[in-house]
Amino acid sequence: MPSLSPLLLLAAIGAAPNLANAANSWIVPGAAWLSTSNTKIDAHGGMVLQRGDTFYWIGQAASHSVQPYMYTSTDLLNWAPAKNPQNSIQWMWRPKLAKPNGSFYIYGQVDRNVQALISTSITDNYSVSGGKVTLPPNAYTYSDTGMFQDDDGTWYLLTSADHNNVQINRINSDGSIGPRVGLMAKGAYEAPGMFKVDGIYYLIVSGKTGWRSNPNSVFWATSLGGSWTGPVGIAPEAEKTYNSQNTFQLTLKGSSRTTYIYMGDSWDSKGGPDSNYVWLPMTVDKASKKVSLEYHAQWKVDVKTGAVSTPGLKTRYEVQHADVVGRDGLAGRKKGGGPISSDSLLTFRNVAGLGGRQWVQIHYRVTDRTAGEAHISVNDEPAVNVSSLNHRAGYHHVVPVELNLRAGSVNTISLGMTGREEAGIVVEGLEVVED
Ligand SMILES: *[C@@H]1O[C@H](CO)[C@@H](O)[C@H](O)[C@H]1NC(C)=O
Ligand SMILES: *[C@@H]1O[C@H](CO)[C@@H](O)[C@H](O)[C@H]1NC(C)=O
Ligand SMILES: *[C@@H]1O[C@H](CO)[C@@H](O)[C@H](O)[C@H]1NC(C)=O
Repeated sequence: MPSLSPLLLLAAIGAAPNLANAANSWIVPGAAWLSTSNTKIDAHGGMVLQRGDTFYWIGQAASHSVQPYMYTSTDLLNWAPAKNPQNSIQWMWRPKLAKPNGSFYIYGQVDRNVQALISTSITDNYSVSGGKVTLPPNAYTYSDTGMFQDDDGTWYLLTSADHNNVQINRINSDGSIGPRVGLMAKGAYEAPGMFKVDGIYYLIVSGKTGWRSNPNSVFWATSLGGSWTGPVGIAPEAEKTYNSQNTFQLTLKGSSRTTYIYMGDSWDSKGGPDSNYVWLPMTVDKASKKVSLEYHAQWKVDVKTGAVSTPGLKTRYEVQHADVVGRDGLAGRKKGGGPISSDSLLTFRNVAGLGGRQWVQIHYRVTDRTAGEAHISVNDEPAVNVSSLNHRAGYHHVVPVELNLRAGSVNTISLGMTGREEAGIVVEGLEVVED
């Protein structure tokens, strides 16, 4: 045998699709998001800080005792794990980053108090900075931490404090938690995040429903001291913020436009490792002060220009050309069209792939998602529930899932259902994304 390098050898036997095509091309709300190490990004309740051309994503690691984990990127798509964990501290909820002086700080909630970590390096060597503290001026404890930096560079800690107070405290230049400069006490809110457009402060909050999503809303004010006008929903109410909870607003100043990005968490039932992310661009109506999430099943932003785009190159496969085959492989063979039943598979053949991981948008409707759900398999691999690949399964009629496709028109993709027929799963077709 000629001496092939291990990589070439793997490629030669077709076993290296992940290596061949691992770069992320899209932000996909609700879908499992892989790091450059092919691990699921584990940084929930977090934020993104931009410094120069680099973005730093900090959040709580659900699979590692809620420690602060960090990832870095230059395109907001591909994230490399930093040296994690950032500190051995555990159960630090919703960590946020700030730089109130020459040092970098991580602030998060531990035992309902603020705990700060400090380092001279943004990505490494954080040590505990002082003890746990309550919030001035009333020594309130709190649940959720948010972060906002104003135009003059001052950092503000946002908290959902006792007695339903969303507080805004200045962070002093020595890193300590300074005076309260603002208060929004208009109901039971948490998960605060803030951004500023043309002098107007927009404060986004969620309701308090544990790990279950609710309609998040926005308040606005002309100064941090208030008064706060709102609430107004940021998405159609029934969408429950596209099944997510706010964590941060990222402002991306591109050469052609400024793009405001909503960062939310799509929690699993207990805030565990199956939780995903919902990031979406926001539109801001400056006259009415209305903020709206701009929903895309998948999208990206050019970090240089600020331009938002969605997939342009797609090949569509209509359900009319798919086969319905009974579990016995023979019975009931007919062309697809109606609901999938629990004893048959809907199979698309000769689906063209590029070779490697590729997004396939499943176009389907679910009448009752409490009754059952769709599962999918590619080239006779074991079937997986669509919801394990994308939390939008059953909630939206375009659900992108990342699949391993072979190169050429040789792939077989089958859809089936788990549960009761009342789920009413009607597949319209597949779109294979090629860019
Ligand atoms: C930031 O402030 C803290 C607290 O005073 C201090 O320990 C630290 O050295 C400062 N960092 C820098 C780089 O000045
Ligand atoms: C972290 O600290 C270690 C030990 O002091 C040092 O060798 C290393 O260079 C530091 N890393 C960074 C990124 O500053
Ligand atoms: C798929 O979901 C069903 C519930 O809808 C569950 O019973 C089943 O275990 C799941 N299958 C896998 C492979 O996770």
